[in-house]
Amino acid sequence: MASFRKEVVLATKFHIGKTEVENRADTALYNGIRYHLESSMKRLKTDYVDLYYLHRLHELVPVEEVAEVMGRLIEEGLIRGWGLSQVSLETLQKAQETVPVSAVQNLYSMVERDCEKEIFPYCKERGIGVVAFSPIASGLLSGKVTAETKFEGDDVRKFVPQLSKENLAANQPILDVLAEFSGRKGATNAQISLAWMLHKYPNVVPIPGSKNQERILENLGAWEVELTEEEFSELEAALAGCTVYGHRGHMESEQKGFRKNWDK
Ligand SMILES: NC(=O)c1ccc[n+]([C@@H]2O[C@H](COP(=O)([O-])OP(=O)(O)OC[C@H]3O[C@@H](n4cnc5c(N)ncnc54)[C@H](OP(=O)(O)O)[C@@H]3O)[C@@H](O)[C@H]2O)c1
Repeated sequence: MASFRKEVVLATKFHIGKTEVENRADTALYNGIRYHLESSMKRLKTDYVDLYYLHRLHELVPVEEVAEVMGRLIEEGLIRGWGLSQVSLETLQKAQETVPVSAVQNLYSMVERDCEKEIFPYCKERGIGVVAFSPIASGLLSGKVTAETKFEGDDVRKFVPQLSKENLAANQPILDVLAEFSGRKGATNAQISLAWMLHKYPNVVPIPGSKNQERILENLGAWEVELTEEEFSELEAALAGCTVYGHRGHMESEQKGFRKNWDK
C-alpha cells in the first residue's frame, strides 16, 4: 500500500462580486471578501478555513489587491492559506510576490496538459500545491462515457466538447492505452489516470468529482495503485503517441469574469 499522510483540508472559494468591484473605497475589497468568508464559515460551521481560494480573477481587480486581503485574513487567523484557480503563471507570480500562495487549483489531466509547461515547475520549486480539477477529464478517462451516454439536468458535461460523439471516437486510442494498463495493474482506467499524476508530481492533489459513492471509493483507491518508474515511462510514451481531440471547454478554462462568460 502506498504510504501517505491522511490530512483533511477544509477548502472553499469565493468569487468577487459586483459590489466589491463597483465600490472602490479602500476597505471595500477586504470587507467584501471577509463577508464571503464569514458566510461560508457559517454554512460550514467552522471558525477558520484551511485554504481559501479566489475562484476566478476579476479583470478589474488586480491580483495583488486580493493577495493583500488574503494576507490580512491569514494574520487574523481566519484562513491558514490562500489559493487561486485557473490562473496563468503571470498572475500566479504577481500573487506569490505579494503574499505567498498555498495552492493553485487548475485544470489538469492526461488530456489537458497546459499546466506542465509553466505552472508545475514554478509551483514545485516554491512548494505550492497544485490541485488538479477535472483529473478524469469529466469522466472521459474512465472509459465509461460512450456515444450513448446522455447527460441530463444540471450535468455540465452537456457542454464539454471533449465528450462529443466525434471526440469520444477520436480519443479512443487514449482509452485503449488506459485499458491496457488497468488490465495489467488490476485497477480501473480512472485509477490509472489518477495514479499517473500522483506518480508524476510530488505536489499534485487530484480532486475527482462524483455523485456516486462507489466511484468516490474507487477514485480514492488510486492512492494504492503504484506505478514503477518503468511502467510510468511506458505509459508516458504511449500517451505521447496519441493525439488529443477536443478540450474541456471555455466556460471552465478561460473565463475571467465568471457570470458574464457563463451566460454566453
Ligand atoms: N476550479 C475550478 O474552476 C473547477 C472547475 C470544474 C470543477 N472543479 C472541481 O473539480 C472537481 C472534479 O471536477 P469534474 O467533476 O469536472 O471532473 P472529473 O473528476 O474529471 O470527472 C467527474 C465526472 O466523471 C464521472 N466519474 C468520476 N469518477 C468516475 C469513475 N471512477 N468512473 C466513471 N466515471 C467517473 C463523474 O460522474 P458520476 O457523478 O456519475 O460518478 C463526474 O461526472 C470537483 O470537485 C469540482 O468542484 C473545479
